[in-house]
Amino acid sequence: MASGGRAIHEKWAFIFFLAGIGFFVTGTFIQGVLPIMVLGGTSKMKTKDQVVAEGFYKMQFPELIQLLAMYPNLWKKYYNVPDQYFYTSPPAVQKQIIKGVAQAISDGRWIYMAEGCWQCHSQFVRPVSNESAYYGHVSVPSEYDNTLFLPHLFGTERKGPDLIREAGKKGAEWHLAHFVNPQYTVPGSIMPRFAKFVDLKDGKPVLTPANPNDAYASLNPEPTKYGLAVITYLEWLGSWYRPRFFDEWRKEVQEEQQNPQAMQAAMMSAGNSGNSSPSASNSNNPSSSSSSNSTNSNKTASPSGASQ
Ligand code: HEC
Repeated sequence: MASGGRAIHEKWAFIFFLAGIGFFVTGTFIQGVLPIMVLGGTSKMKTKDQVVAEGFYKMQFPELIQLLAMYPNLWKKYYNVPDQYFYTSPPAVQKQIIKGVAQAISDGRWIYMAEGCWQCHSQFVRPVSNESAYYGHVSVPSEYDNTLFLPHLFGTERKGPDLIREAGKKGAEWHLAHFVNPQYTVPGSIMPRFAKFVDLKDGKPVLTPANPNDAYASLNPEPTKYGLAVITYLEWLGSWYRPRFFDEWRKEVQEEQQNPQAMQAAMMSAGNSGNSSPSASNSNNPSSSSSSNSTNSNKTASPSGASQ
Protein backbone atom coordinates (compact mmCIF):
# COMPACT_ATOMS: atom_id res chain seq x y z
CA MET A 1 0.00 0.00 0.00
CA ALA A 2 2.61 2.46 1.11
CA SER A 3 5.02 1.51 -1.61
CA GLY A 4 2.24 1.83 -4.21
CA GLY A 5 1.46 5.41 -3.08
CA ARG A 6 5.09 6.41 -3.32
CA ALA A 7 5.34 5.04 -6.82
CA ILE A 8 2.38 7.13 -8.01
CA HIS A 9 3.81 10.23 -6.33
CA GLU A 10 7.19 9.74 -8.00
CA LYS A 11 5.57 9.16 -11.34
CA TRP A 12 3.70 12.50 -11.19
CA ALA A 13 6.73 14.37 -9.94
CA PHE A 14 8.70 13.12 -12.90
CA ILE A 15 5.97 14.09 -15.37
CA PHE A 16 5.73 17.62 -13.91
CA PHE A 17 9.48 17.91 -14.00
CA LEU A 18 9.57 17.02 -17.69
CA ALA A 19 6.61 19.29 -18.44
CA GLY A 20 8.38 22.13 -16.62
CA ILE A 21 11.46 21.74 -18.74
CA GLY A 22 9.25 21.56 -21.81
CA PHE A 23 7.45 24.79 -20.95
CA PHE A 24 10.72 26.51 -20.18
CA VAL A 25 12.29 25.53 -23.49
CA THR A 26 9.15 26.46 -25.45
CA GLY A 27 8.86 29.78 -23.64
CA THR A 28 12.48 30.66 -24.21
CA PHE A 29 12.09 29.87 -27.88
CA ILE A 30 8.85 31.79 -28.43
CA GLN A 31 9.69 34.84 -26.31
CA GLY A 32 13.43 34.95 -26.84
CA VAL A 33 14.80 33.17 -29.86
CA LEU A 34 11.91 33.63 -32.26
CA PRO A 35 11.71 37.45 -31.98
CA ILE A 36 15.44 37.71 -32.59
CA MET A 37 15.12 35.45 -35.64
CA VAL A 38 12.15 37.39 -37.01
CA LEU A 39 13.20 40.96 -36.17
CA GLY A 40 16.98 40.71 -36.06
CA GLY A 41 17.48 40.20 -39.75
CA THR A 42 14.69 42.26 -41.27
CA SER A 43 14.69 45.44 -39.21
CA LYS A 44 17.64 47.68 -39.93
CA MET A 45 16.85 50.54 -37.64
CA LYS A 46 18.49 53.90 -38.06
CA THR A 47 20.97 54.74 -35.31
CA LYS A 48 20.71 57.96 -33.35
CA ASP A 49 23.53 59.54 -35.36
CA GLN A 50 21.78 58.68 -38.63
CA VAL A 51 18.48 60.07 -37.39
CA VAL A 52 20.07 63.34 -36.29
CA ALA A 53 22.15 63.70 -39.46
CA GLU A 54 19.00 63.23 -41.51
CA GLY A 55 17.19 65.86 -39.45
CA PHE A 56 19.96 68.40 -40.01
CA TYR A 57 20.26 67.74 -43.72
CA LYS A 58 16.50 67.79 -44.25
CA MET A 59 16.44 71.07 -42.32
CA GLN A 60 14.05 69.97 -39.64
CA PHE A 61 15.86 71.43 -36.64
CA PRO A 62 15.37 75.18 -36.39
CA GLU A 63 14.92 74.87 -32.62
CA LEU A 64 18.03 72.75 -32.15
CA ILE A 65 20.07 75.20 -34.22
CA GLN A 66 18.77 77.93 -31.95
CA LEU A 67 19.55 75.89 -28.84
CA LEU A 68 23.12 75.44 -30.06
CA ALA A 69 23.41 79.20 -30.53
CA MET A 70 21.91 79.99 -27.11
CA TYR A 71 24.30 77.91 -25.00
CA PRO A 72 27.54 77.47 -26.97
CA ASN A 73 29.64 77.14 -23.81
CA LEU A 74 27.46 74.41 -22.34
CA TRP A 75 27.44 72.50 -25.62
CA LYS A 76 31.22 72.69 -25.75
CA LYS A 77 31.59 71.66 -22.13
CA TYR A 78 29.10 68.79 -22.00
CA TYR A 79 28.98 67.45 -25.54
CA ASN A 80 32.14 68.75 -27.18
CA VAL A 81 30.13 70.59 -29.82
CA PRO A 82 32.09 73.41 -31.48
CA ASP A 83 30.56 76.89 -31.54
CA GLN A 84 29.87 76.97 -35.27
CA TYR A 85 26.80 77.35 -37.44
CA PHE A 86 25.95 73.92 -38.82
CA TYR A 87 25.05 74.84 -42.37
CA THR A 88 28.20 76.77 -43.17
CA SER A 89 30.76 74.62 -41.39
CA PRO A 90 32.94 71.95 -43.00
CA PRO A 91 31.85 68.29 -42.97
CA ALA A 92 34.16 67.30 -40.10
CA VAL A 93 32.63 69.97 -37.87
CA GLN A 94 29.14 69.01 -38.98
CA LYS A 95 29.87 65.45 -37.95
CA GLN A 96 30.98 66.60 -34.53
CA ILE A 97 27.81 68.67 -34.09
CA ILE A 98 25.66 65.71 -35.16
CA LYS A 99 27.40 63.39 -32.71
CA GLY A 100 27.01 65.81 -29.81
CA VAL A 101 23.35 66.56 -30.49
CA ALA A 102 22.55 62.86 -30.96
CA GLN A 103 24.17 62.09 -27.62
CA ALA A 104 22.20 64.87 -25.92
CA ILE A 105 18.91 63.56 -27.36
CA SER A 106 19.77 60.07 -26.19
CA ASP A 107 20.71 61.32 -22.71
CA GLY A 108 17.51 63.35 -22.57
CA ARG A 109 15.52 60.26 -23.39
CA TRP A 110 17.15 58.29 -20.58
CA ILE A 111 16.44 61.09 -18.15
CA TYR A 112 12.84 61.22 -19.39
CA MET A 113 12.56 57.52 -18.57
CA ALA A 114 14.39 57.76 -15.25
CA GLU A 115 12.34 60.70 -14.00
CA GLY A 116 9.08 59.01 -14.94
CA CYS A 117 7.91 61.71 -17.34
CA TRP A 118 6.19 58.88 -19.19
CA GLN A 119 3.89 58.30 -16.24
CA CYS A 120 2.08 61.52 -17.09
CA HIS A 121 2.94 62.17 -20.74
CA SER A 122 2.17 60.02 -23.77
CA GLN A 123 4.05 60.12 -27.07
CA PHE A 124 1.35 59.13 -29.51
CA VAL A 125 -1.30 61.23 -31.25
CA ARG A 126 -4.32 58.96 -31.45
CA PRO A 127 -6.69 58.86 -34.43
CA VAL A 128 -9.72 59.67 -32.26
CA SER A 129 -11.49 62.69 -30.77
CA ASN A 130 -9.94 65.12 -33.26
CA GLU A 131 -6.70 64.89 -31.35
CA SER A 132 -4.80 66.00 -34.41
CA ALA A 133 -6.50 69.38 -34.21
CA TYR A 134 -4.72 69.99 -30.94
CA TYR A 135 -1.50 67.99 -31.11
CA GLY A 136 -0.63 67.83 -34.80
CA HIS A 137 -0.58 64.97 -37.25
CA VAL A 138 -1.82 61.57 -36.07
CA SER A 139 1.16 59.32 -35.32
CA VAL A 140 2.28 56.86 -37.97
CA PRO A 141 4.40 53.72 -37.43
CA SER A 142 7.37 54.82 -39.51
CA GLU A 143 8.05 57.70 -37.12
CA TYR A 144 9.08 55.28 -34.42
CA ASP A 145 11.32 53.09 -36.54
CA ASN A 146 14.69 54.07 -35.11
CA THR A 147 16.83 53.26 -32.10
CA LEU A 148 15.75 56.44 -30.31
CA PHE A 149 12.37 54.77 -29.85
CA LEU A 150 13.74 51.50 -28.51
CA PRO A 151 11.81 50.87 -26.36
CA HIS A 152 9.02 53.23 -27.40
CA LEU A 153 7.50 55.57 -24.81
CA PHE A 154 3.93 55.70 -26.15
CA GLY A 155 2.64 55.82 -22.60
CA THR A 156 -0.90 55.19 -21.48
CA GLU A 157 -1.45 57.96 -18.98
CA ARG A 158 -2.16 61.54 -19.87
CA LYS A 159 -2.07 63.62 -16.76
CA GLY A 160 -0.20 66.11 -18.91
CA PRO A 161 -0.38 66.70 -22.68
CA ASP A 162 1.04 64.38 -25.30
CA LEU A 163 4.63 65.30 -26.14
CA ILE A 164 5.33 63.60 -29.46
CA ARG A 165 4.82 66.90 -31.34
CA GLU A 166 6.51 69.07 -28.73
CA ALA A 167 9.27 70.51 -30.95
CA GLY A 168 8.79 74.21 -31.50
CA LYS A 169 5.78 74.54 -29.23
CA LYS A 170 7.70 76.23 -26.42
CA GLY A 171 11.19 77.69 -26.18
CA ALA A 172 14.20 76.71 -24.11
CA GLU A 173 13.54 79.54 -21.68
CA TRP A 174 9.93 78.50 -21.24
CA HIS A 175 11.10 74.97 -20.44
CA LEU A 176 13.62 76.28 -17.89
CA ALA A 177 11.02 78.34 -16.05
CA HIS A 178 8.57 75.43 -16.26
CA PHE A 179 11.10 73.02 -14.76
CA VAL A 180 11.95 75.35 -11.88
CA ASN A 181 8.29 75.58 -11.08
CA PRO A 182 5.58 74.58 -13.58
CA GLN A 183 3.27 77.12 -11.99
CA TYR A 184 5.46 79.99 -13.21
CA THR A 185 4.30 79.29 -16.76
CA VAL A 186 1.08 77.39 -16.19
CA PRO A 187 -0.73 78.53 -13.03
CA GLY A 188 -2.46 75.59 -11.41
CA SER A 189 -0.25 72.99 -13.07
CA ILE A 190 0.12 69.73 -11.20
CA MET A 191 3.40 68.85 -12.87
CA PRO A 192 6.15 68.39 -10.27
CA ARG A 193 9.20 70.67 -10.14
CA PHE A 194 12.38 69.49 -11.77
CA ALA A 195 14.58 72.31 -10.52
CA LYS A 196 17.67 70.12 -10.79
CA PHE A 197 17.52 70.63 -14.57
CA VAL A 198 18.19 74.31 -14.06
CA ASP A 199 21.33 76.06 -12.90
CA LEU A 200 19.91 79.00 -10.97
CA LYS A 201 23.35 80.11 -9.83
CA ASP A 202 21.80 81.61 -6.69
CA GLY A 203 18.81 79.33 -6.45
CA LYS A 204 17.41 79.73 -2.97
CA PRO A 205 15.16 82.76 -3.16
CA VAL A 206 13.28 81.61 -6.22
CA LEU A 207 11.44 78.70 -4.74
CA THR A 208 9.65 80.56 -1.97
CA PRO A 209 9.46 84.23 -2.88
CA ALA A 210 6.57 86.62 -2.39
CA ASN A 211 6.35 87.13 -6.09
CA PRO A 212 7.90 84.08 -7.75
CA ASN A 213 7.72 85.39 -11.30
CA ASP A 214 9.66 88.54 -10.54
CA ALA A 215 12.26 86.68 -8.52
CA TYR A 216 12.72 84.17 -11.30
CA ALA A 217 12.96 86.83 -13.96
CA SER A 218 15.75 88.57 -12.06
CA LEU A 219 17.94 85.50 -12.40
CA ASN A 220 19.76 84.38 -15.47
CA PRO A 221 19.07 80.65 -15.45
CA GLU A 222 20.90 78.16 -17.63
CA PRO A 223 20.25 74.45 -18.05
CA THR A 224 22.40 71.93 -16.23
CA LYS A 225 23.75 69.04 -18.27
CA TYR A 226 20.57 67.07 -17.61
CA GLY A 227 18.42 70.07 -18.38
CA LEU A 228 20.17 70.69 -21.67
CA ALA A 229 19.69 67.04 -22.62
CA VAL A 230 15.99 67.00 -21.72
CA ILE A 231 15.27 70.25 -23.55
CA THR A 232 17.14 68.97 -26.60
CA TYR A 233 15.07 65.80 -26.44
CA LEU A 234 11.81 67.75 -26.15
CA GLU A 235 12.75 70.01 -29.07
CA TRP A 236 13.59 66.95 -31.10
CA LEU A 237 10.30 65.15 -30.44
CA GLY A 238 8.17 65.55 -33.54
CA SER A 239 10.70 67.76 -35.32
CA TRP A 240 10.36 65.40 -38.27
CA TYR A 241 6.66 66.09 -38.75
CA ARG A 242 5.77 69.74 -39.14
CA PRO A 243 5.08 70.21 -42.80
CA ARG A 244 3.51 73.67 -42.59
CA PHE A 245 6.24 75.41 -40.74
CA PHE A 246 9.35 74.71 -42.71
CA ASP A 247 9.34 76.24 -46.12
CA GLU A 248 10.33 79.73 -44.97
CA TRP A 249 13.18 78.48 -42.83
CA ARG A 250 14.49 76.15 -45.52
CA LYS A 251 14.60 79.06 -47.93
CA GLU A 252 16.58 81.11 -45.44
CA VAL A 253 19.10 78.33 -44.90
CA GLN A 254 19.53 77.79 -48.60
CA GLU A 255 20.22 81.49 -49.09
CA GLU A 256 22.77 81.35 -46.31
CA GLN A 257 24.47 78.37 -47.87
CA GLN A 258 24.74 80.16 -51.18
CA ASN A 259 26.38 83.12 -49.56
CA PRO A 260 28.48 81.80 -46.68
CA GLN A 261 30.66 84.93 -46.40
CA ALA A 262 27.71 87.20 -45.81
CA MET A 263 26.38 84.67 -43.35
CA GLN A 264 29.64 84.58 -41.43
CA ALA A 265 29.89 88.36 -41.43
CA ALA A 266 26.37 88.55 -40.06
CA MET A 267 27.23 86.08 -37.33
CA MET A 268 30.36 88.04 -36.39
CA SER A 269 28.42 91.27 -36.16
CA ALA A 270 25.81 89.56 -34.03
CA GLY A 271 28.72 88.94 -31.68
CA ASN A 272 29.61 85.95 -29.59
CA SER A 273 27.10 86.89 -26.96
CA GLY A 274 25.61 83.47 -27.38
CA ASN A 275 22.12 84.83 -27.83
CA SER A 276 22.05 84.97 -31.60
CA SER A 277 19.43 82.71 -33.06
CA PRO A 278 19.72 81.75 -36.72
CA SER A 279 16.80 83.92 -37.65
CA ALA A 280 18.11 86.87 -35.67
CA SER A 281 21.49 86.78 -37.35
CA ASN A 282 19.77 86.45 -40.66
CA SER A 283 17.80 89.62 -40.16
CA ASN A 284 21.07 91.45 -39.52
CA ASN A 285 22.31 90.19 -42.81
CA PRO A 286 22.40 93.18 -45.18
CA SER A 287 21.80 90.98 -48.21
CA SER A 288 18.85 89.20 -46.72
CA SER A 289 16.30 90.45 -49.24
CA SER A 290 15.19 87.31 -50.94
CA SER A 291 14.85 89.02 -54.33
CA SER A 292 18.64 89.28 -54.59
CA ASN A 293 18.92 85.57 -54.14
CA SER A 294 19.74 84.74 -57.73
CA THR A 295 22.38 87.47 -58.06
CA ASN A 296 24.11 86.27 -54.93
CA SER A 297 24.34 82.75 -56.15
CA ASN A 298 25.80 83.94 -59.46
CA LYS A 299 28.47 86.03 -57.78
CA THR A 300 29.64 83.42 -55.32
CA ALA A 301 29.36 80.66 -57.91
CA SER A 302 28.39 78.17 -55.27
CA PRO A 303 29.51 74.75 -56.44
CA SER A 304 26.74 72.96 -54.58
CA GLY A 305 23.87 74.75 -56.33
CA ALA A 306 21.54 73.04 -53.90
CA SER A 307 18.48 75.06 -54.66
CA GLN A 308 18.70 74.96 -58.44
C1 HEC B 1 2.70 64.09 -12.21
C2 HEC B 1 2.57 64.16 -13.63
C3 HEC B 1 3.69 64.74 -14.47
C4 HEC B 1 5.01 64.35 -14.54
C5 HEC B 1 5.70 63.25 -13.77
C6 HEC B 1 5.62 65.16 -15.56
N1 HEC B 1 4.70 66.04 -16.07
FE1 HEC B 1 5.01 67.35 -17.57
N2 HEC B 1 3.12 68.05 -17.39
C7 HEC B 1 2.19 67.56 -16.52
C8 HEC B 1 0.98 68.35 -16.62
C9 HEC B 1 -0.29 68.17 -15.81
C10 HEC B 1 1.22 69.34 -17.62
C11 HEC B 1 0.25 70.42 -18.11
C12 HEC B 1 0.40 71.68 -17.32
C13 HEC B 1 1.76 72.31 -17.53
O1 HEC B 1 2.07 72.71 -18.65
O2 HEC B 1 2.50 72.41 -16.54
C14 HEC B 1 2.58 69.08 -18.09
C15 HEC B 1 3.19 69.83 -19.09
C16 HEC B 1 4.44 69.55 -19.61
C17 HEC B 1 5.02 70.21 -20.74
C18 HEC B 1 4.36 71.30 -21.58
C19 HEC B 1 3.69 70.64 -22.76
C20 HEC B 1 2.93 71.60 -23.64
O3 HEC B 1 3.18 71.57 -24.86
O4 HEC B 1 2.11 72.35 -23.13
C21 HEC B 1 6.25 69.67 -20.94
C22 HEC B 1 7.24 70.03 -22.03
C23 HEC B 1 6.45 68.68 -19.91
N3 HEC B 1 5.33 68.62 -19.14
C24 HEC B 1 7.60 67.94 -19.79
C25 HEC B 1 7.79 67.02 -18.75
C26 HEC B 1 9.04 66.32 -18.54
C27 HEC B 1 10.27 66.46 -19.40
C28 HEC B 1 8.85 65.54 -17.45
C29 HEC B 1 9.87 64.64 -16.76
C30 HEC B 1 11.13 65.25 -16.40
C31 HEC B 1 7.49 65.72 -16.99
N4 HEC B 1 6.88 66.63 -17.80
C32 HEC B 1 6.93 65.06 -15.93
C33 HEC B 1 2.34 66.51 -15.66
C34 HEC B 1 3.52 65.83 -15.43
